[in-house]
Parts: sequence; structure tokens; C-alpha cells
Amino acid sequence: MWHALIALFGLVFLVNAQPLARANDLYYTAITPVSDETRYTTLNPNAELKEFNKVKHSKGNIVFTSGERITGDRLIVNHYDDESFTTTADIEVGMKYPSSSSTGATLTCIEIYVDMSADDAGAYMINGGIGKANAEILLTCNQTRTYVYETYFYGY
Ligand SMILES: *[C@@H]1O[C@H](CO)[C@@H](O)[C@H](O)[C@H]1NC(C)=O
Repeated sequence: MWHALIALFGLVFLVNAQPLARANDLYYTAITPVSDETRYTTLNPNAELKEFNKVKHSKGNIVFTSGERITGDRLIVNHYDDESFTTTADIEVGMKYPSSSSTGATLTCIEIYVDMSADDAGAYMINGGIGKANAEILLTCNQTRTYVYETYFYGY
């Protein structure tokens, strides 16, 4: 009886805990070590990279933003990943919203919180962005042992 009740509560909790965000709407690569031969800008020399607004909060801690929250928008995507390496590595992460050919929400704001052992990192819009229903993003960091990021996409 109790087991059944606990199982039921557990199930209700799980269902209720489903966030509004649909992380599966986001395609993303692993935090991938790159070399000068394999980095995005080498493979895509004609790509136009637009830098995100960048605020350094403390050593190894950066918040990248594009756009602003507006009344009535909501969290569309929340995604987190982390990686550490035995020696320092140059890394990249690629993200694409939406993941498939389905129509995405109109994006109002994208926030990316990054934490790493290196001093600096980059975040770039490659395609789409604020006011559009798609976004392609590149995250970079050179000579780092650790890299952690969390992204929030807001839209309507
Ligand atoms: C990382 O290194 C590459 C190649 O030296 C350079 O082009 C790029 O600007 C660096 N990225 C950052 C975020 O410092």
C-alpha cells in the first residue's frame, strides 16, 4: 500500500517536474577538443561570427548574453554540460536550435553561463539569433582544463 502510494507520488512528482524547456529541441555537440586544423573557423573560413555580449564576473567565470527578456516570453531550452581534461585543451561546442526542421519559438534572449580554468572564452552567433526562430552558436575556449556551461534560451 505505502509502496504503491510512494510510487504514485513519485510518478506525479516526475510528471510535474517536467520543465517547460524542451532540451531535445536543441542540438549540441560534446565539449570537443580542437586543433588549429579542426577548429570551426578553419573548417568554415567564410562564416560570420557575431560575438555575444560578454561580462566577466570573476576569474574563469563569464556570462554571455544576446537580447533581453520581454513580458510574456518563457524558457524554451535549458541545457548544461561539463568536461575536464588531463592536460589543457582548446575546446569548442556547437549548438543549433531547433534541432530538427521543426519551427522554433521566436527567440528573445539567450544567456550562457561559462565556468572554466582558463582566463578567457568566446561565444558567437553563427546563424539566426534574437528575433529569429533559429540560432546556431559556437562556444570556444583555449588552453583550459575544465569547461562548464549552462544555456537558457527564452522566446515566445
Ligand atoms: C583560440 O586560439 C585561436 C588560434 O590561436 C584563436 O584564433 C582564437 O581567437 C582563440 N580563442 C579565444 C577565445 O581566445
